[in-house]
Amino acid sequence: MPLSQLPGNTAMKLGAAALCLCLLAAAVWLGLSMTTSESSGGGPGGGGGAPGGGGGGGRKKCSPTPLPKADVSLCRDLEVSYPELGNISCQVVPKCNMYRRKITNWPQPKVKYPAALDGSYYVLVMVDPDAPSRADPQMKYWRHWLVANIQGADLKTGTIRGSVITDYGPPTPPPTTGLHRYQFFIFLQGTSTIPTPPKQNENRGAWEMDDFLQNYQLPQPKTSTQFMTEFDGA
Ligand SMILES: *[C@@H]1O[C@H](CO)[C@@H](O)[C@H](O)[C@H]1NC(C)=O
Repeated sequence: MPLSQLPGNTAMKLGAAALCLCLLAAAVWLGLSMTTSESSGGGPGGGGGAPGGGGGGGRKKCSPTPLPKADVSLCRDLEVSYPELGNISCQVVPKCNMYRRKITNWPQPKVKYPAALDGSYYVLVMVDPDAPSRADPQMKYWRHWLVANIQGADLKTGTIRGSVITDYGPPTPPPTTGLHRYQFFIFLQGTSTIPTPPKQNENRGAWEMDDFLQNYQLPQPKTSTQFMTEFDGA
């Protein structure tokens, strides 16, 4: 029925309803464009393609998945957390949200051992046993991080500082080499500091971890964990 044929007050009601709808649509559009610019960081150039579903505006869930059963043997009470990702201990870094790319640039994670003892010193080792690939690990172990003389009080809160022998190197698994394991071990040194070798940031591959541990008389690790990630190219 054409509007002109409607009784006056019905037309007014319709007009008011249309105005309300318009305002509502504007509010939804504003909300959407705000979420878009927030999550992409850049200015929304084209902006307004109608998003399927609409309404909710919630982000898709993007969380790590647990390690495969076969890989949980190192999982103990050691927490490894990166700022955006949180605790990644015993989990696989998800591809969503570009986490696998981001982790190659993030600075050192927190490594927290709640049972660390005040007054004791610890050694942290981070290695990749899957260099260059798990199928053919000729460069095992790849040394990512090696710190001695870490105070128990610091380890309890996840702050890794001490005598840095090898600076933290983030996981950078090469293309087409599958998932790599990144393993963390904590050794108890004792109640005094030890003299450490000069910094070793070169020749990180094919590291003889067992020789190092024997030299410094570090027996079984007190605790350990690992996570996995994989190359995610452009
Ligand atoms: C970290 O994650 C691991 C594996 O999911 C879990 O066992 C541990 O309790 C977590 N730690 C904390 C403090 O949430």
